[in-house]
Amino acid sequence: MRKAMATITASPTEAGSERQNDRLLPGGIPASAIALSRQPFEQARVLPPSCYTEPDFFRFEVETVLKKQWILAGRVDQVANAGDYFTLTRYAEPAIILRDFEGHIRAMSGVCRHRAYPVASGAGNCGKKGFHCPYHGWRYRLDGSLAAAPYMQPGHKPDGEGLPEFAVDIWQGFIFINFDREAEPVSSSLKTLDAVLEPFGMAEMKSSVMREIPWTGNWKATLDNFTEAYHQPFVHPTTFEPMAPARLGVYEDVDGPYNLFWLPAPDGNIDLMFDEIPGLPEMHRTSFIVVNIFPMFHMLIDPSCIVILDMDPHSVNRLTARWDILVRPEAFELPDFEARRDALTRALIPTWDEDEEACRTIGQGQGSQFATQGNFSWMEKSVHQFHSWMATQYLK
Ligand code: FES
Ligand SMILES: [Fe+2]
Repeated sequence: MRKAMATITASPTEAGSERQNDRLLPGGIPASAIALSRQPFEQARVLPPSCYTEPDFFRFEVETVLKKQWILAGRVDQVANAGDYFTLTRYAEPAIILRDFEGHIRAMSGVCRHRAYPVASGAGNCGKKGFHCPYHGWRYRLDGSLAAAPYMQPGHKPDGEGLPEFAVDIWQGFIFINFDREAEPVSSSLKTLDAVLEPFGMAEMKSSVMREIPWTGNWKATLDNFTEAYHQPFVHPTTFEPMAPARLGVYEDVDGPYNLFWLPAPDGNIDLMFDEIPGLPEMHRTSFIVVNIFPMFHMLIDPSCIVILDMDPHSVNRLTARWDILVRPEAFELPDFEARRDALTRALIPTWDEDEEACRTIGQGQGSQFATQGNFSWMEKSVHQFHSWMATQYLK
């Protein structure tokens, strides 16, 4: 553990309210230093660097914050038919997402109630019989209840030992799950965002290329990176910056757990790999839109498709990045659809590589005893929105 953030002190106005937070969080991080991130924008500071580097803090944030948040599991069309299922492991918790024979999308723990073997893997259709645990054959119905447990003691009652069910919410065609069944639906906090995104018809869009990439870096440093354009002229001088110069960015005030900014193309023209979505308003036609839904779901929207990034953090500095590109269903009918999709992926890779290097390298500085909590550029209003939200979760 190292000394954290000794150079930043709370202002007099916050001193009273922060006295009660004057405690050390795991990793030796003062709550008062974290509280600086939720000050008003002009006075606020970035989260303490130790929040990005301390393994004890990472374990704390997973257990007390991240496991209570909505997790992006996938798209509705991955479970189009009754019995369709796919599996997902997040924060080392195996989960099964399926559509039952009443048409409901359900999510549940994928951990067998016998000796914890993962009940399912991959994706497929389980039919009406549900899932057989591959280890000793216990069978679970589609509502998670235990249907059979072969060779158990006489009197063993299978019905009491089902797979714990998770909360499910659907937003814009995305399936979100939450281990906390009492959580408020994420969709209810995204109504203003819905109004901005409505012209894209996002709910009908389809996944075109799911890629999972090992990524070295802290998950928050990665979201920070994708949540501002400030770094673009320096990290992407010849790749993304010329298409959407950072200086033109327009950062929105928001009313929920997300941020949003517009990046207009300098001449209003964006090179599109797919056909422009019909009926878009002028600003949607001439700008990229960047949206991040907290804690870790990123979207880069252009007038023809949506690039999404989600993360599966494994440790304080290692994660799996899950990339996808959502396109309108008509795009799949194009004779050269695959060539276009692959060309878009190839065009994005140099920018992603530059971002990956930035997210990896910043960790070297954040681990220094001399790292401090800087303040924000106007181009980091969105980072402040993220840090302020995270600080509120840490200090609950
Ligand atoms: S661990 Fe699943 S049946 Fe034994
Ligand atoms: Fe970037």
